[in-house]
Amino acid sequence: MARVRRIRELRGQRVLVTGAASGIGRAVAEQAAAEGAIVHLTDIQAELLAEVADRLRAAGAVVASADACDLSDYEAVHDLAQRITAEHGAMDVVLNVAGIAFWGTVSSLEHEHWRRLVDVNLMGPIHVIECFLPPMVEAGRGGHLVNVSSAAGIIGMPWHAAYSASKFGLRGVSEVLRFDLRRYRIGVSLVCPGGVATPLTETVHIAGIDKASRSFLRAQAGFRKRAVTPEQAASSIWDGVKRNRYWVYTSPDIRLIHLLQRYVPWGYTLAMRAMSTGANRVLPEVERARRADAPAADSRSNAVR
Ligand SMILES: NC(=O)c1ccc[n+]([C@@H]2O[C@H](COP(=O)([O-])OP(=O)(O)OC[C@H]3O[C@@H](n4cnc5c(N)ncnc54)[C@H](O)[C@@H]3O)[C@@H](O)[C@H]2O)c1
Repeated sequence: MARVRRIRELRGQRVLVTGAASGIGRAVAEQAAAEGAIVHLTDIQAELLAEVADRLRAAGAVVASADACDLSDYEAVHDLAQRITAEHGAMDVVLNVAGIAFWGTVSSLEHEHWRRLVDVNLMGPIHVIECFLPPMVEAGRGGHLVNVSSAAGIIGMPWHAAYSASKFGLRGVSEVLRFDLRRYRIGVSLVCPGGVATPLTETVHIAGIDKASRSFLRAQAGFRKRAVTPEQAASSIWDGVKRNRYWVYTSPDIRLIHLLQRYVPWGYTLAMRAMSTGANRVLPEVERARRADAPAADSRSNAVR
């Protein structure tokens, strides 16, 4: 049985990073570039992406491409992959980092939210895998695929049903590919971050909860207190790739709750029930906002990027 090619060092490796304009993706790209990788960057935010690429190039990094792309659009990803592969060859490492977050109850989430989460967080990485992995297989050099899921791809966090649909989906894809791709010497890492202090903590929408409300600000402050930096998360990811680890955690709390879920299932159930009770304390507020006519009070009218 072929052994996975270990990416022990990044110098000279062709590395594709999605979501490279911000947060974890940007930190992952910066660290790869600093180690001498040839980086290919993509994100839906063209201006921010160009700024990241310019800054990296100014620091002497090799940024081979930086193209804006909506990963939920298969044709766009297909064209991007064709262009990059024709000009630069197959990748050595592909990192699916881009994603969005939207939480809510079954009553407050709208169909559009479920749809967009699956389109971006699940179909996005699938499009990237469809278009960038076959050239890697064909090139025969082996390599590594990184899929950034979430703690919400492991456990049943309150109000995360739609987000978890996308993140558990990505976990399913990864679980199969870790065995399927081994014969091509391609390793797979599934990254399950807990809190990471990125702009996602600002852009996250909670259906029915006003972002200026005390409940939202309290939840946001609690989240930030436990969060690691994007740079810490990126270091954990590269460490996981270099060690060819399948499960990659970016903070110890998620490793712990995953252990609890597997080895002390009743403890896990109690912990999740307590978490759910805590979150649902603000349900009356959500219900009030849901019933109110004023669009400002109804965050369901927020655009889902
Ligand atoms: N920050 C956290 O606490 C946390 C926790 C668990 C999982 N995650 C996951 O980590 C990943 C990175 O998130 P982050 O925290 O760095 O957030 P972020 O918002 O800082 O970065 C996400 C990037 O993805 C890009 N993006 C969004 N939709 C896109 C699309 N359709 N096409 C292309 N690019 C798109 C955004 O423009 C942005 O630059 C996401 O998949 C997220 O679900 C984050």
